Amino acid sequence: MSKLLYINTFGCQMNVYDSERIEGSLKKLGYTVTSLLESADLVIANTCAIRAKAEQKAFSFLGRLAKIKRKKPELIVGVGGCVAQQQGREILRRMPHVDLVFGTHALGRLSSAVQKIEKNRCRIVDIDMSETVADEKAAPAGLPAEGIAKFVTIMQGCDNYCSYCVVPHVRGREASRHPDDILNEIKMLVDGGVKEVTLLGQNVNSYGIKEGLCSFAGLLSMINRVNGLSRIRFTTSHPKDLSDDLIEAFGDLEKLCRHIHLPVQSGSNRVLKRMNRKYTREAYMQKVRRLRARCPQIAITSDIIVGFPGETTTDAEDTLDLMRRVRFDSLFAFNYSDRPSAPSRKFSGKVAAHEKNKRLQRVLAAQAVITADIHAGMVGKTEPVLIEGYSKLQETEKGKPTGGGRQWSGRTSCNKIVNFDIDGPGRTTGDVIGRTVPIKIEKALSHSLWGTWCRDADTGPTTKGENCYAA
Ligand code: SAH
Ligand code: SF4
Ligand code: F3S
Repeated sequence: MSKLLYINTFGCQMNVYDSERIEGSLKKLGYTVTSLLESADLVIANTCAIRAKAEQKAFSFLGRLAKIKRKKPELIVGVGGCVAQQQGREILRRMPHVDLVFGTHALGRLSSAVQKIEKNRCRIVDIDMSETVADEKAAPAGLPAEGIAKFVTIMQGCDNYCSYCVVPHVRGREASRHPDDILNEIKMLVDGGVKEVTLLGQNVNSYGIKEGLCSFAGLLSMINRVNGLSRIRFTTSHPKDLSDDLIEAFGDLEKLCRHIHLPVQSGSNRVLKRMNRKYTREAYMQKVRRLRARCPQIAITSDIIVGFPGETTTDAEDTLDLMRRVRFDSLFAFNYSDRPSAPSRKFSGKVAAHEKNKRLQRVLAAQAVITADIHAGMVGKTEPVLIEGYSKLQETEKGKPTGGGRQWSGRTSCNKIVNFDIDGPGRTTGDVIGRTVPIKIEKALSHSLWGTWCRDADTGPTTKGENCYAA
């Protein structure tokens, strides 16, 4: 009889990717995924430690599991990801209902650990970091290929040691996968119907350097040649390492989407120095200018931390000033959070919580104006949109689409979400999902766009990559 697995994934895309690998490896032990927590035989929390709040979320979920396990003692509880790596055995000590703690480098050993627990009801901690993604020679076995857009990890870890960040401590040293392994994985996904891949790494620009593999731009041009793949995205690029070759790639590679996530963190040179980011605001803005010169339609998004220790109101103003000059398409902004292993926890000049909130609100309000303006400027344009499925709005607020039209959702090359109605005969699910179609933007909303299928420009399934519609 099949056993049921419930996975709760916290944190970034790396964890989303890892959760798929977890699912793939546990399938071989007879587990199938359930969305009903109470019915699960094995529950895995794939955790994130980036900010204190992320960690609290993981522990509050684990707290809920204690109650479920009291009623169902045979339940196996596993904790993976970055909190597991950081806290290891301490989690077993604090939480008697947890059976397994497995770190960020233990995924290849997960299924044998679960088997041991099933057999002996023992408790296991595996936070050994000696194996890396680079040791996986073939495409991770059992990776589910359903869906149109998928993540592919190209490298693991980080060597940058930004002073606020836990990632180098919980994901270990930077290690890149061999291009053949990456290409095999992407071809396997494309064979399963995937049209878009997002390449993942903490700093993709240093891909392959340590190992003497190809450059990141070289890897992109190999992936660009994979038949059947429509789009390539990647995240994240550290501004200090953004190379000329990568800037060129935005002009040269037709499958590379016109979007770069380039976290600036702060607009103040003083703060950037204390963050150990190794670039200045001037150098950042220069890279932005060069990107836009090579690819004028490129969307640039960013991350900002407000209230870093020692950040003055003038520093906060510098960040707002940089935002207004660069005009990001969108950004993620976070209140600074002390992390146990990050050096900045010992820095002086901690900013009070209410002041951090005030600065965060100002950043968000300034960005809302810029995003609204950029979105309004897109109204009337026709954009190629890769259809990914039903719009979330329809699914969560109104249930399955009914009545005169169906609302679908997809993204432009610049990563803007576009929802649109599909009506008329012949537009069945199989017809549209995974196709890149021309959508005329009719309305700008704060986080998305709304449009209509532009039938005049519709030439059927697109095989040449979506940029054939580019304005
Ligand atoms: N490797 C990526 C970032 C990964 S973490 C990069 O360097 O761009 C994602 C984001 O979380 C960071 O860009 C940063 O804005 C935020 N972050 C990281 N540590 C944080 C902390 N201690 N407090 C608040 N935000 C943090
Ligand atoms: Fe963290 Fe900096 Fe590495 Fe990004 S580059 S993961 S912010 S240490
Ligand atoms: Fe969180 Fe780990 Fe990602 S700390 S942001 S899940 S690398």
